[in-house]
Amino acid sequence: PADLIIAVDGPAASGKGTIALRLAQYYGLPHLDTGLLYRAVGLGVLDRGGELGDAALAERVARALRPSDLTDIPRLTDRGAGEAASRVAGHPGVRADLLDLQTRFARQPGGAVLDGRDIGTVIAPDASAKLFVTASPEVRARRRWLQLTARGETIAFDDMLADILKRDARDAGRGAAPMVQADDAALLDTTDMDIEAAFDAARRIVETSR
Ligand code: C5P
Repeated sequence: PADLIIAVDGPAASGKGTIALRLAQYYGLPHLDTGLLYRAVGLGVLDRGGELGDAALAERVARALRPSDLTDIPRLTDRGAGEAASRVAGHPGVRADLLDLQTRFARQPGGAVLDGRDIGTVIAPDASAKLFVTASPEVRARRRWLQLTARGETIAFDDMLADILKRDARDAGRGAAPMVQADDAALLDTTDMDIEAAFDAARRIVETSR
């Protein structure tokens, strides 16, 4: 059978990461959470005492990125890292530097599952199946708030919602590879779904598109 490349895009806390992971397990494919790459670049800039708006520095960090920069998951997935990621993700040079790694991951024999913002549009426009996963901002804020609170971060729900809305606007409004549903992507709204229902719906989409 042909290689199965599954592109999963969508805004923060839409459920896309969990869906991508579950699809990868189900089909026995490798999975790449591409948000981790941008998070690692954002943290790398901050660790060097730099400014997130400094494109040249962010590009240097992106080019020097190593697998070991992607292992501290609690730090990479905290609130500040998401914000830093979305700032450096607006630099076209950073996106260009991370392109090759992602396209090679997508094209490995057998296929792969990638999740992010531009997988179906830029990284793997020829993907076998494309999903654009969304949920209402309130539900996404609540999910993220529960996750962060469960591991001891203290944050008000309203601040979480404001974070989410600001990040959506920045990711959808930037010039370089903005977050947008690809013309041929299936929309999956998980607002009223638990993870099992969302995974079932995602699997059906993949089965009908491949
Ligand atoms: O998906 P996650 O929330 O981890 O992504 C963090 C940030 O990285 C996003 O807000 C977005 O700005 C950026 N990103 C991107 N393109 C991707 C994945 C993430 O621009 N493919």
